[in-house]
Amino acid sequence: MTTAQQAWQALADWQPRQLSELVAADPESRLQALVRSVADIRFDFAKTHLDDSAIATLSSLAEAQDFSGRRKTLFSGGIANPTENRAAEHSAERGDGAPESVHVAQALHQRMRMLIDAIEAGAFGEIRHLLHIGIGGSALGPDLLVDALGRHNSRYDVAVVSNVDGAALDEAFARFSPEHTLVAVASKTFTTTETLLNAASALQWLEEGGVEDPIGRVIALTAMPERAIEWGVDETRVLPFSETVGGRYSLWSSIGFPAALALGWDAFADLLEGGEMDRHFRLANGADNVCLLAAFTDQIYANRLGCQTRAVFAYDERLRLLPDYLQQLEMESNGKSVTLAGEALGRTSAPITWGGVGTDAQHAVFQLLHQGTHLTPVEFIVAREPDHLLDDAHHETLVANCIAQGAALMAGRKSEDGARNYPGNRPSTTILLDQVTPRSLGALIAFYEHRVFANAVLLGINPFDQFGVELGKEMAKGLAEGTIEFDPATRALMDAALGE
Ligand code: F6P
Repeated sequence: MTTAQQAWQALADWQPRQLSELVAADPESRLQALVRSVADIRFDFAKTHLDDSAIATLSSLAEAQDFSGRRKTLFSGGIANPTENRAAEHSAERGDGAPESVHVAQALHQRMRMLIDAIEAGAFGEIRHLLHIGIGGSALGPDLLVDALGRHNSRYDVAVVSNVDGAALDEAFARFSPEHTLVAVASKTFTTTETLLNAASALQWLEEGGVEDPIGRVIALTAMPERAIEWGVDETRVLPFSETVGGRYSLWSSIGFPAALALGWDAFADLLEGGEMDRHFRLANGADNVCLLAAFTDQIYANRLGCQTRAVFAYDERLRLLPDYLQQLEMESNGKSVTLAGEALGRTSAPITWGGVGTDAQHAVFQLLHQGTHLTPVEFIVAREPDHLLDDAHHETLVANCIAQGAALMAGRKSEDGARNYPGNRPSTTILLDQVTPRSLGALIAFYEHRVFANAVLLGINPFDQFGVELGKEMAKGLAEGTIEFDPATRALMDAALGE
């Protein structure tokens, strides 16, 4: 069997061909091999540099890194996160995992559903607004879901506030009336400074707004229910989730409460049905596995062609928050520099994820993508069905732009005039959804989660811890409280910013 080291060497020796040549050589087999449909989503890798030889090499790497074994550990509730000695059971929230964990997840979903029924039945008075307070994984997922799926049919006006900058809360306060507002405090650990400070200010706002029992308006979404209770939330209004669900993988748990409340339970249940992607990821092998295939493209760009970043553009206004969501998912998961064995990784881990919305981004950052000195793999996400009833020209123009960008990046256009020369041979992937629905969005997000995992397996790293964020948190606390000695440059800056 090939060792991981041999497979990495083979990848280093692999010579990518020109994209246009690859596509022209045998279009039919290329499309057959590199365009896949899973859960009604079309994943098109035809305009990447993947070829048979790269796929064979990366398949050997997957085997050498025990892809099947690590995947089995993931789905069976084994220790997928060894540095924290924990399982990683987000797929159990979608019904795919160790039976006991699936059972617990379903029971906790039922608890959330009952609370939502009570809210709808008027147990909290006439609620019109939901102020959701959380940060990172406790905010990005719910924000994406409500923004993408609740544009026309949201039953509540939802504001997701994450930043500790009071201006963020202020904006929500200006939109909502205390009398009609419910506050969700979302924090896996229930210790996050920003969230607890924002929650305290929200309580004060409710009180000053004449709400008789402000804490009675607070719902806690957390894996540490005892801390929420200690903070003052009555046990009946705590919606727990399992500690084995990582923060950035938690929108399927009670952290998804804003989506379940605003979109209705059926929509939330449909989102979980996107777990169709779990079955695909768990059962499909080698390059037939679309999440693994996507990870193969990530590896050729990050670790063979030296790309430091990857760009994601949603050609759909509903998915405008997807790049932000993916930044945390991909960079917090795989932005690591040690292997599972604790050794130096010695290669690029996660590329920097960035992106935006098409067509806007075309008029802002695409210059660099077409002619800059960086090679950046681009990912386009687009849907067949638009979200509006305006003239067809809108959707046709949007889709044509998306597809044309991929073609232009690949083909380029030669010119004697350097300023007008487009080198081409620039890769892109296109993900085409039939529709943006709870189910398809669920499947798309599950695809990204598993792609991150597949990349971590190829690299031999743990995607489920995030110690990198701890040092900064500690130092910020020490600086604010004056409990840590800082260097003179930092002290001078602090004096300039907050001194008398
Ligand atoms: O600081 C990083 C982090 O721990 C993320 O992983 C997490 O999503 C976020 O903070 C919020 O944490 P919590 O949900 O515990 O408040």
